[in-house]
This record gives sequence, structure tokens and C-alpha cells, in this order.
Amino acid sequence: MTLSHVLVCRGPDCLTRGAQEVYTAVALETHRQGLSEQEVVQTQSGCVAPLCGTGPVVCCYPSGAWYAGVTPQDVPDLVTHDIAGGRVVERLAARRVEGVA
Ligand code: FES
Repeated sequence: MTLSHVLVCRGPDCLTRGAQEVYTAVALETHRQGLSEQEVVQTQSGCVAPLCGTGPVVCCYPSGAWYAGVTPQDVPDLVTHDIAGGRVVERLAARRVEGVA
């Protein structure tokens, strides 16, 4: 059963801000926390225009939270609280897509 879908922006601006390291950190942390690829679907996205310039941007569903300025050090919190727990990490949340969660 899928718990969460995580989209890490791999657009050009986010890549210059460390998106590759964040993408790798999400994969490693979900594995470290014992979550399978069926439970957490991780994909790359193109530019998430409304937040461009504030990346790396990570969008999580079903919470509907879009996170900005994510660093690899933030990823354990994101995985524990949002991806596995369904609770928005307010200190990183930049936008919420209403009607999703
Ligand atoms: S490149 Fe990531 S939001 Fe534009």
C-alpha cells in the first residue's frame, strides 16, 4: 500500500541548489526507516514554478505540503513526520495545495 508520493524538483534552479543531494537523501532515509518502494513512491519533477528560486523544492502527498529550501539535513524530519507520519513539517512548508489531504 502506498503511504506517500514524494516529488523532488530536479529543475535547473533546484539542481544548482542541491536537489540531487536531497533526492539521494530521501531515498536513503526512507530505506533507513524501513519504508519500501511500494510504500513511498519517489519521483523527480520538473520546475514547480510558484516556488522557483527557493529550492530545493520537495512536494509531498497526501499531505499536499510543498517544502522549500530543503537540505539533506532536513530529510529525516520530512520522512519521519510527513512521508511516514502524514504531518506537515511547518518550519519548511512553503505552500499547501488545498483539497489534497
Ligand atoms: S527548478 Fe525547482 S522550482 Fe524551479
